[in-house]
Formats: sequence, structure tokens, C-alpha cells
Amino acid sequence: MNNNSLFIRAAKSELTERPPVWMMRQAGRFMKEYWDIKNKYSFLEMCKTPELAADVTMLPVDLLDIDAAILFSDILVTAEAMGGDLSFTQGVGPKFSNPVRTEADINRLQTGVNDKLQYVADAIKVIQQRLGGKIPLIGFAGAPFTVMSYLVEGGSSKDFKLTKLMLHNQPELAHQLLSKIAEVTIDYLNLQIAAGVNAVQIFDSWALALAWDDYKEFSHYYINKIISGLNRADIPVISFCKGSSVFAPLMAEAKPDVISIDWNVDLLDIKRRLPAGIAVQGNLDPHVLYADKKVIKERIHRLFERMRGEPGFIFNLGHGIMPDIPFDNVKYAIEVIKEFKY
Ligand code: CP3
Repeated sequence: MNNNSLFIRAAKSELTERPPVWMMRQAGRFMKEYWDIKNKYSFLEMCKTPELAADVTMLPVDLLDIDAAILFSDILVTAEAMGGDLSFTQGVGPKFSNPVRTEADINRLQTGVNDKLQYVADAIKVIQQRLGGKIPLIGFAGAPFTVMSYLVEGGSSKDFKLTKLMLHNQPELAHQLLSKIAEVTIDYLNLQIAAGVNAVQIFDSWALALAWDDYKEFSHYYINKIISGLNRADIPVISFCKGSSVFAPLMAEAKPDVISIDWNVDLLDIKRRLPAGIAVQGNLDPHVLYADKKVIKERIHRLFERMRGEPGFIFNLGHGIMPDIPFDNVKYAIEVIKEFKY
């Protein structure tokens, strides 16, 4: 892969001719071509069959001409490899039929499970062959707190009631669980790096649910541990959480190369408050992509003008693309970005 790609240069805090673009959840349900595959296979089959995972990873590369590909997988595959009985149902989302709520449940979870995740390494190799060095491939994993929340709740949650109850009432138990997930996550990201990803992103989607002290103790601590445990050489690490507009100064202490910022904050303002050498990724409200094209263009230009001259800026959304965002609008946004010149 050529290290001169816009994405890698921006991730390393260089100033690029224009900001590179990729979008969280870019390989997904807003594309008709995704459904052509999804209608034939289950989501987990797609993740576990390297050729299919590569087909889906390549959709936004071929149809949208984005500047970085992201591995098609899910943050919950580590939890499944540890022993979680995971299923995905249309309209319901992920479910674990055996939630993890007691010490015995935690003791049953396995670590050292990279052999069960070999299909991800195989997918990465197929994808890299298909990319042929044209653009970088981003690997990823869930942050321990976010993955823990699915295991404890048994699926998605609005208020994370059981998870937070464990943090508050049984902190030692929570730490046992988080430590196991962190250990598996370090191995898993190192497996992806060894297989050939060019960057990794850690998704802590639900960190915003936590109070500052709890974020520090139960999330930040483990992300820090993961980042220090990576055989990263010069592989950039991106740290994402919903809540980064609040937690960014703390996230920076774990020394990621890039922090992915949600849309609640002025991107330049937050970047200036971060230590030098940390790039930012963000931070368009994904709902803008529902709006009229005139608005989409205006909002992208507004963000880019704000960031003009600022090294280390990758365009992304503040969170993932929603499944019902019109494909045409996403395509238009990328055209607007690609035409932009600093
Ligand atoms: O970004 C990409 O295009 C790469 C693929 C990717 C998926 N999930 C595919 C997926 C990535 C990076 C993820 C990460 C992920 N998975 C996160 C963190 C990102 C974020 O948005 O905060 C989380 C919280 C999950 C857990 C998860 N997976 C949920 C809650 C759901 C169901 C609800 C939903 O948003 O769809 C999934 C399923 C899932 N993961 C789908 C896809 C394409 C939909 C599967 C389908 O029904 O077709």
C-alpha cells in the first residue's frame, strides 16, 4: 500500500491537498448492492465468508470512490469468539442468548481466541488483493466498554441499565469482564495488523452514556491498554466514541494518531485543544445527508473552510450512515469533497 495516500498522510497529521473522505458504515444498507448480497446470506455468514466480506468491503470503493476502505465485519465478533451466542435479526439488531451478568458467566468466557477469528485475517488478505494498493484498508474492533454493554444487556440498549448497575455495584466484576475483553481485543487487532490492515479504528459507540469518572475508570483505562498493546509500527490508530466532544482530552492521553469527533462540537476548536500530532476525523452530522443537495454542499464547505490550513484532518460523519439515507446524497457528498481544493 502506498503510504502517500491522502488518508494515511492526514492520519499522520500532515496537511493534504484536500481532506480525505471515508464514512462510518459506508459498506451497508443504504446501498441497493448491499441488499443484493444480504438477501442471499445472513449478516454473520457475510462476515465469516472472506469472499463475501471482501465483496461488501469493495462496494463503497467501487461505487463511491472513497479514500479508505473499512473491513466489513462487526464489533461483536470478538464477543462471539469468547463464547457469546450471537445472532442478528432484521429490525432487532444483535442479540446474545446467554448474557454475561455473574462471575460464573465471566469465568466461562474464553480468551486466546484468535484461531476462531482467522476468517477475519483471511478476509483482510482477499480485500488487500482486490484493493491492489489503491487505497488503505482500515481494520477495527469495539472498545471493551461498548462490547461489554452488549454482553451484559444481551443486545442493544437505550439506557445501559444493567451495564451501569454492574459498574456501580460490582466494579471488580466489571473489571474482570473488561480485562478479558481488552485482552482479546489486543490479540484481535494484532491479528488484523499482521494480516495487512493499514490503520485500525477502535469503536466506543456508547461511551457517551458514562459519567466522566466512570468513562476514565471503565473505558479509557482499557482503550489505553489496547493502544499500548498493539504491534502498530507505523499503523495509525483512530479512537472513536460517541461523546468524543466531551472525552477528547482524555482520549488523547491514550496516544491515538487520530480522534474521531462527533458533531456536537466545533472541530477546529476541539483540535486546537488537543496535543500537537493528534489528527481529527469528523464531524458532519449524518442527518445532513438527508437534506437537499444545496445544504449538503454548503455544510461540507462550511466545515472545510473552518479546517482550511489545518494539518491532520480526515472527513467523516460524526457517527455512521443511517440505512435510509439516499445513496445519491452520499455519492453527491463525496463528489463535493473530491472537488474541493485547499
Ligand atoms: O462501517 C462499515 O461499513 C464496516 C462495517 C461495520 C458494521 N458494524 C457492519 C454492520 C462496522 C464498522 C460496524 C461496527 C459496529 N457494530 C458498531 C460501532 C459503530 C457504530 O455505528 O457505532 C456497533 C455498535 C455495532 C453493533 C451492531 N451491529 C448493531 C447495533 C447492529 C444492528 C443495528 C444497526 O445499526 O444495524 C449491527 C448490525 C450491522 N453491523 C449491520 C451492518 C452492515 C446491519 C446488518 C444487517 O441487518 O444487514
